[in-house]
Amino acid sequence: MRNIVLIGFMGSGKTTVGIRLSYRMRMPFLDTDKEIERRQGRWIKDIFAADGEEGFRRLETDCLRQLAERCRGHIVSTGGGLPMREENRVLLKKLGTVLYLKAEPETIYGRLKGDENRPLLQGANPEEKIRRLMAEREAGYQAAADVVLRVDGKGFHAIIKEIREAVR
Ligand code: S3P
Repeated sequence: MRNIVLIGFMGSGKTTVGIRLSYRMRMPFLDTDKEIERRQGRWIKDIFAADGEEGFRRLETDCLRQLAERCRGHIVSTGGGLPMREENRVLLKKLGTVLYLKAEPETIYGRLKGDENRPLLQGANPEEKIRRLMAEREAGYQAAADVVLRVDGKGFHAIIKEIREAVR
């Protein structure tokens, strides 16, 4: 059975929606960040601190490659930067049906302000960082996606309903 893969910016709801969808569809849930942390025995922020973003991206591609080979019938939530590598976009297509949870920067900032677990948003002016990164990444998300779902102002029920209709 094909996997259902959720992509999108940090804070777009991939993990929360993915877990609820997994209950609803009775499909097991998997999150690439959690999978990397489990395999490494380290938190994402510690991997960034020790190995830099490049080190983390290598682990991310390794993880995705293995999932694309072996994982079937799962709901897979992915790290926000994962679809940016061309190589990863090819692997995502192989992995399953890719849904992009698209949110506006205001929505993301509202959810993530004060978050200390996202290394890319630390330091001065996170709102500006969110805007810039989102604009840089939009083309990559669009290129990776089979389906684009807007999530602003929607509750989980509505989002899950749309996803189920999209993958039917
Ligand atoms: C990242 C998003 C994070 C995590 C890492 C880098 C990104 O995942 O992979 O901090 O580059 O957008 P979430 O999207 O689950 O927060």
